Amino acid sequence: MTGFERWSAAMARTLYGPGGFYRCELPGRHFATSAQTPVFAEAIARLVDDVDARLGRPDRFTILDVGAGGGELLERLAGLLDDRFQLAAVELRPKPPHLPNRIAWGPDLPDAVDGLLIACELLDNVPCDVAVVDPDGRVRYEEVDGTGATRLGDPVTGEDAAWLAAWWPIGTPGERAEIGAPRDTRWRGLTGLLRRGTALAVDYGHMRHARPAAGTITGFKDGREIPPVPDGNRDITAHVAVDAVACDRLEPQREALRRLGLDATPPPLPLAFQDPVGYAHALAASSAAARLMDPEGLGAHWWLWTDR
Ligand SMILES: C[S@@+](CC[C@H](N)C(=O)[O-])C[C@H]1O[C@@H](n2cnc3c(N)ncnc32)[C@H](O)[C@@H]1O
Repeated sequence: MTGFERWSAAMARTLYGPGGFYRCELPGRHFATSAQTPVFAEAIARLVDDVDARLGRPDRFTILDVGAGGGELLERLAGLLDDRFQLAAVELRPKPPHLPNRIAWGPDLPDAVDGLLIACELLDNVPCDVAVVDPDGRVRYEEVDGTGATRLGDPVTGEDAAWLAAWWPIGTPGERAEIGAPRDTRWRGLTGLLRRGTALAVDYGHMRHARPAAGTITGFKDGREIPPVPDGNRDITAHVAVDAVACDRLEPQREALRRLGLDATPPPLPLAFQDPVGYAHALAASSAAARLMDPEGLGAHWWLWTDR
């Protein structure tokens, strides 16, 4: 059993430390993400084509998936893109053995990227602290122990206090906020690798006008949302304050996917009689697109774009 510690330390230990959740578990076993969906990969292949055209179809074009999980997105892209496109994952977990050889895999970032750098549901897992307003109106760090019990810690000061003041001001007793500075820093570091091309983060998030008063830190395991107990057996995640993250533009996933040609309209019923197999395929694709574009679900995720 661990004693009380701040959430950032608890998340770092329980997700990425020895025996941590992401050292042992495949994300796809515990929760569904956009990147695990075939029609998402098809949309990303169209995005790759757009970026490739903008870059003048260079000899080398890299697609770097940071936090690639089980490699589902890269595996599908390997079937959609020819060998001119280098596919690479940055991931703490070992490479799943069934993935094609052409997918490079390892824990380290390259020095630079020319092409597309993509990070799906990475930033929400970047460890961050939680701040709470105490009964006297002071903003303090929340601390947590290995059972999930919480208590108030030191007052929030310095850069963390400045981040809250700028992006997520809280002042009413009981209000909570996740201090997003480590996510901003992480994304600035990743976009800094981009020499030419596009960097894209896809994640859960909220904007300043709609911050959740109680914060969002939560747990996931076996497909269910559960309390965020830092015991190494579950994902612990907090939505991203997306407007604080430096990028060129922000767009809801449903709009980005619509622009990339995803269509959630079901196929016309008469097709079921003329071409039953074609109808079944079209229905499966439109249902998958509807799930990715659902404004109450994955469609509300944010796409954070940076172009060079
Ligand atoms: C929520 S999962 C998302 C997986 C996949 N991108 C998807 O959308 O299905 C986050 C992944 O990021 C990986 N990850 C987190 N921090 C990382 C780091 N510093 N370096 C490499 N991988 C990291 C974790 O191991 C985990 O597989």
